[in-house]
Amino acid sequence: MQRLELTLAIIKPHAIKNPVALSYIRNVIKNKFVVIRTKRLSLDTETAGKFYKEHVGKFFYNRLITFMSSGCIDLHIMGHADAIRLWRQTLGPTSVYKGQFQEPYCLRGMFGISDTRNVAHGSDSPQSAEREIKFFFPDFSFHNWHNNDEVWYR
Ligand code: TYD
Ligand code: MG
Repeated sequence: MQRLELTLAIIKPHAIKNPVALSYIRNVIKNKFVVIRTKRLSLDTETAGKFYKEHVGKFFYNRLITFMSSGCIDLHIMGHADAIRLWRQTLGPTSVYKGQFQEPYCLRGMFGISDTRNVAHGSDSPQSAEREIKFFFPDFSFHNWHNNDEVWYR
């Protein structure tokens, strides 16, 4: 038995619109993680901009914000002993092109269309997981959940 680490997955709009991709991704998630909360949202550009504030000023920022607010997204709070690393490994590299050539079975390699439309987001550290979960699930008690000794999984 191990303690749960939490991460936030965001399934991006183009993957939501592709039923084959979406059902494959959901199966992977179900098989690897405990899904703790799920929500479907449609972001406005202001909210997408706040979520991705670390990228303000980068060449892809406007493209990313426009894309992320172009359709519905699915949010999942997911748990696993090694959730952050495991989800990012399951996604593969940010660059879809690298994913296709280096890790052909990663989700981004399989279903990514471009570096922006790269299937899904994954938190990159415990600090960003906490910020991101609170951003989209303000009522979720991250600390209580995380520190609760009753929360284990097999
Ligand atoms: P980043 O946090 O660097 O990647 P990751 O999603 O793997 O943590 O970038 C956030 C998102 O910004 C990324 O998923 C897609 C977009 N992006 C681009 O469109 N072009 C790029 O060159 C990069 C680095 C990111
Ligand atoms: Mg990132």
